Amino acid sequence: MRFLQKKPARNLARAPISADHDGVFNASSNTVALAGQIKALADPIRLRALALLAGHELSVGELCRALGLAQSRVSNHLRVLREHQLLHERKVGTSTFLRYAPPVQAGDERVADRLWNAFLPELEGLREHADDLARLRVVLDERRRDTTNFFDDLAGDWNTIGIDFETGQARQRIAASFLPPQLVIADLGCGTGYVAQAFLDLVQRVICVDSSGGMLEEARKRLDATPGSTTVEYRKGELDALPIATGEVDGAVCAMVLHHLENSTAPLAEMFRICRPGGTAVLMELAPHKQAWMHDSLGDRFLGLDSDDVAERFRAAGFVDVQLEILSDSYQPKNEQAPQADTQGVPLYLLRGRVPLAS
Ligand SMILES: C[S@@+](CC[C@H](N)C(=O)[O-])C[C@H]1O[C@@H](n2cnc3c(N)ncnc32)[C@H](O)[C@@H]1O
Repeated sequence: MRFLQKKPARNLARAPISADHDGVFNASSNTVALAGQIKALADPIRLRALALLAGHELSVGELCRALGLAQSRVSNHLRVLREHQLLHERKVGTSTFLRYAPPVQAGDERVADRLWNAFLPELEGLREHADDLARLRVVLDERRRDTTNFFDDLAGDWNTIGIDFETGQARQRIAASFLPPQLVIADLGCGTGYVAQAFLDLVQRVICVDSSGGMLEEARKRLDATPGSTTVEYRKGELDALPIATGEVDGAVCAMVLHHLENSTAPLAEMFRICRPGGTAVLMELAPHKQAWMHDSLGDRFLGLDSDDVAERFRAAGFVDVQLEILSDSYQPKNEQAPQADTQGVPLYLLRGRVPLAS
């Protein structure tokens, strides 16, 4: 009898499962991270620390005081929490601020977050946590007091420290942000567009008017360089025959122009015509001064204008509620040829007026 020849047995044994240096099987890195995070949470001090850091960003010193533990004792625990990416650190100068911030896991699941949320209600009921919170309140009260005392000490110097801005525009933009965004504003005698620029991104439309094509071109260069949501239109024209429809604008401004004009009656009447009922007009002018070189070099027909006179003409044009504001600013045009005594700033004022609702 012939025995069937036995085939060599097939090696059914599977390839050995490899393990990494921690003895963890080749599971996905997410699982390893999760296991690490569970391990990191499994310590009373770390749980107490995280319970505080979940609600507050604290410096290392503040955390130690709230836990009532020496820094040497807390540091090791913080290292473990850091290693398992359960802390967000923010360094400012020599200080480090910590808060609980589990990393986003694969698939956007904040696994550690869910774990943590499961622990939290238990933790909140523990006596140690209540004690930690009581100490934390003391720490936070001190922090608040320190801040207040710091600014109390600084208050006398703040007008010197807080004035240092490159252009001084930043704070003015805050007040300007309260403008209704649907406004249409006319900048009359816009020049190179300084005033119009202040409205960019704050109002719906700005209409720049000037009789000089060169000035309008410069205004376009300035305003195009600051693209924003505001539509800017450039219209060449004279102030006594404005290229703007009756009631087309909510507000009109005419800055440092009237002293160039022989007569401002028609321009002010035009200003009144283009503003809608209830609209506002603003004039900015130079107070009377003696810097005669401005007549020769800057084309100023008048060396400033008396505010009472201008206010009178403003009212005569139909504006009501006319208000004068003396500005805490001065005009300081550059002129190397001007005599030394003539280079001091020229005081400025604003006149505001309103078109009556039923005019
Ligand atoms: C001193 S600049 C003021 C520019 C600008 N408002 C500002 O605050 O920088 C005077 C401007 O008024 C313009 N202007 C003078 N007379 C005018 C008139 N009759 N009609 C229109 N614009 C005029 C000039 O072309 C010039 O651009």
